[in-house]
Amino acid sequence: MTLIRELDTGTPIRVSDTIVTLTIDGQSVTVPRGTSVMAAAATIGTQVPKLCATDSLEPFGSCRLCIVQIEGRRGYPASCTTPAEEGLVVHTQNADIAKRRRGVMELYISDHPLNCLTCSANGDCELQDMAGKVGLREVRYGYDGANHLAAPTDESNPYFTFEASKCIACSRCVRACEDIQGTFALTMEGRGFASKISAGGTDFMGSECVSCGACVQACPTATLNEKSVIALGTPEYSVITTCAYCGVGCSFKAEMKGETVVRMVPYKDGKANAGHSCVKGRFAFGYATHRDRKTKPMIRAAITDPWQEVSWEQAIAHAASEFKRIQGQYGRDSVGGITSSRCTNEETFLVQKLIRGAFGNNNVDTCARVCHSPTGYGLSATLGTSAGTQDFASVDHSDVILVIGANPTDGHPVFASRMKRRLRAGARLIVADPRRIDLVRSPHIEAQHHLPLLPGTNVALLNAMAHVVVTEGLIAEDYVRERCDLQEFESWARFIALEKNSPEATEALTGVPAAEVRAAARLFATGGNAAIYYGLGVTEHSQGTTTVMAMANLAMATGNIGKLGAGVNPLRGQNNVQGACDMGSFPHELTGYRHVSDDAAREMFESFWGVPISADPGLRIPNMLDDAVEGTFKALYIQGEDIAQSDPDTQHVTAGLRAMECIVVQDIFLNETAKYAHVFLPGSSFLEKDGTFTNAERRINRVRKVMSPLGGLADWEATVALSNALGFPMSYSHPSEIMDEIARLTPSFAGVSYAKLEAEGSLQWPCNEAAPLGTPMMHVDRFVRGKGRFMLTEFVPTEERTGALFPLILTTGRILSQYNVGAQTRRTENSRWHEEDMLDIHPFDAESRGVQDGDLVALESRSGDIALRARISERMQPGVVYTTFHHAKTGANVITTDFSDWATNCPEYKVTAVQVRRTNRPSDWQARFFDEDISLTRIAAPLDAAE
Ligand code: SF4
Ligand code: SF4
Ligand code: SF4
Ligand code: FES
Repeated sequence: MTLIRELDTGTPIRVSDTIVTLTIDGQSVTVPRGTSVMAAAATIGTQVPKLCATDSLEPFGSCRLCIVQIEGRRGYPASCTTPAEEGLVVHTQNADIAKRRRGVMELYISDHPLNCLTCSANGDCELQDMAGKVGLREVRYGYDGANHLAAPTDESNPYFTFEASKCIACSRCVRACEDIQGTFALTMEGRGFASKISAGGTDFMGSECVSCGACVQACPTATLNEKSVIALGTPEYSVITTCAYCGVGCSFKAEMKGETVVRMVPYKDGKANAGHSCVKGRFAFGYATHRDRKTKPMIRAAITDPWQEVSWEQAIAHAASEFKRIQGQYGRDSVGGITSSRCTNEETFLVQKLIRGAFGNNNVDTCARVCHSPTGYGLSATLGTSAGTQDFASVDHSDVILVIGANPTDGHPVFASRMKRRLRAGARLIVADPRRIDLVRSPHIEAQHHLPLLPGTNVALLNAMAHVVVTEGLIAEDYVRERCDLQEFESWARFIALEKNSPEATEALTGVPAAEVRAAARLFATGGNAAIYYGLGVTEHSQGTTTVMAMANLAMATGNIGKLGAGVNPLRGQNNVQGACDMGSFPHELTGYRHVSDDAAREMFESFWGVPISADPGLRIPNMLDDAVEGTFKALYIQGEDIAQSDPDTQHVTAGLRAMECIVVQDIFLNETAKYAHVFLPGSSFLEKDGTFTNAERRINRVRKVMSPLGGLADWEATVALSNALGFPMSYSHPSEIMDEIARLTPSFAGVSYAKLEAEGSLQWPCNEAAPLGTPMMHVDRFVRGKGRFMLTEFVPTEERTGALFPLILTTGRILSQYNVGAQTRRTENSRWHEEDMLDIHPFDAESRGVQDGDLVALESRSGDIALRARISERMQPGVVYTTFHHAKTGANVITTDFSDWATNCPEYKVTAVQVRRTNRPSDWQARFFDEDISLTRIAAPLDAAE
């Protein structure tokens, strides 16, 4: 295994319909027009020396190391800023050029510490490489004059240092922060010799920096360097894998020393991220080897007993005998399981296979239940498939972007950077969100329209926009006539044209001025390619599914599906939530979204697995918990999910868990749900196994093992062992064989194999005979369901109402540095950015309650109460408060209710009526939490130690 070093062409290779042919060092080379001479040379293997250029950035032309000679032209042009032109004859090397380059290098090195041998970047430094490449042998100027060698080092960022004495002022970092990340945290201060990089006049930690690592990646010296490299030394080999955090699915090179990850470097050929990253994937991987990892299987008779460490064989045998006993005693349907959107497709597939094959029921559900299940239902009903319509690159062609119920800069940061690039290039933006999220106004970006709707009124707002489209004659008539069901369209158009759906009539519901809605709707319908991007602010409502349908209606009515720059695009939360849904994790669906009542689909599985499959949909997570409280549901196998923290109405969830007789938790940490478990199986992190994740653009990416499972078994191996112990044999020697089975049983995956993934890098489903290399964009000539179906989207207010007792609306979300329940990110330095969950409250609401910034406040709803600190924020609108749910001890879901989406039971996390008042103590639930954190997690001394 070797360290993968991707080719750096110095400047981007352009895309153009026109090509030019030139001669470089006697070789003919043909490139798209607009490509630089430097990049053209790189394509034939000629690396022109360079320092200020790198191919992720536009050329800058400051270092003058890349000079060349061009026949017929005077002087020595910089090859990075000189475009390749037809017929140019270029010389990249001769004695004259070499002398000038040495002169340039001499100047750089005369102001650079000469400690290469002990430098953390020794062997991985472009300055060092270039000094060698240009043949620098001496520095005539000495080191006594004015220099920057005593410049201080900024260690404030937890993951990288800024060693200013090594800076060569090439400004690659500044440009990376601007062009790639779009944060504009860095500037080049001063001029000439006095030039220096500044993080806005403060240190990195105190600046606008979001720690994405783009500047570190771009820096050609050790000035910006990972602390892990400084601590561990330069890596020895790399393995390409996929981030295990969000649904963007960034590709990374895990750069390794033995079985230790030295750093995660974003992979340039990664189709989802093209070499960019965010703070989580780039730096927050330390949780994988955190001391809290539980690596021994454990069992206990009652949750009040201490855990007893046992062998894998004992744990699996105990779990299997409990499941058998319970099914014997209470019936086949008294047990079930939950698959994980954190685990691989292959692992998820096996868990649902175990439930269907070994348990003999369809009681399988997944955490998508609580996030994007309305996406599946809504898009399937209108368009015919349960997934987003575009790839990420499509946004490069958008003219208008509607972001609704999503906060991409925090939730999907790498995609947000791409979107921001498009916005800086001129696309126009509509943000529909109760909060003033970053996108509303950030450097060089300002939304044309911010529609600050009241939580719970998405459908009313989208209906109002559609009303404008219909009543002002903005329908894409040809498109609708050709591609949509006309009867359904006409009935929808009549409904949407009703006065009750007008912006004026809905203003009282949404709180958004009618004129703003009208202007936004006109822009969406007439501004060119219009794309919708949405998140959990759409789905986690009692009308989540209706909102998804309303977006599909709007997109179809304006002709914005099936072409570049358009589409209805869910920003999926977890790394493999798309995959978990694809893999048959829902109680009513087999893989590829085929209903369990579909005889032909069931027959495929039955004949291959050799067991009957129930034609009746099984229980959803909320039903399992309800039935547990009622006493009819008794046992649960939970892989990589923490429903005690993530699901709404915590007290109801824990009541359900407490009522069961056997809960098997398979996880990397002893999570909140494990407090109620009887068997604990050590899980494996994404670094410890092979498999695939499917991202928000339906892209199947490989996950590759870089270290042995700390607990001894990868998750899929544990599931195989459990299934075998239950008497339903499974036998696989590698996850590739599981994928072969998935492909055999799932038409949309029929063309997927590990061999093809190796060859192509990634594949977007459907991938089958009709689309052997996958499908970047869906619904191109016709909708998957045939004719696009407009659905009636009557606005029905949530039953969760504000009133005198609970006058405010609480909405929840997440922030950049933390991830969901925080199990991973809380165990990394990311906690430096978010040590606790806070309550954001508008100054007006704070003042009327006597609440000051930083005060401890009680947050009360009809479900329960918690205490947390208040942060006064003008991002909020009066009447709406906001918090995150990253810390178990906060208990944000103690507050949320069990109202849910009418179609899918997706919980209504985004609307809870609450009251806020000052307090001086934790809530009763929080006090109990701290007690149970000790009493329900005790581990007995190993038997041999006790003897
Ligand atoms: S880490 Fe990212 S945000 Fe921070 S300065 Fe570097 S490029 Fe900018
Ligand atoms: S920190 Fe690195 S990238 Fe930035 S100017 Fe200095 S040497 Fe160049
Ligand atoms: S954007 Fe998402 S997938 Fe990419 S590095 Fe960040 S968390 Fe990982
Ligand atoms: S690499 Fe061309 S001027 Fe620096």
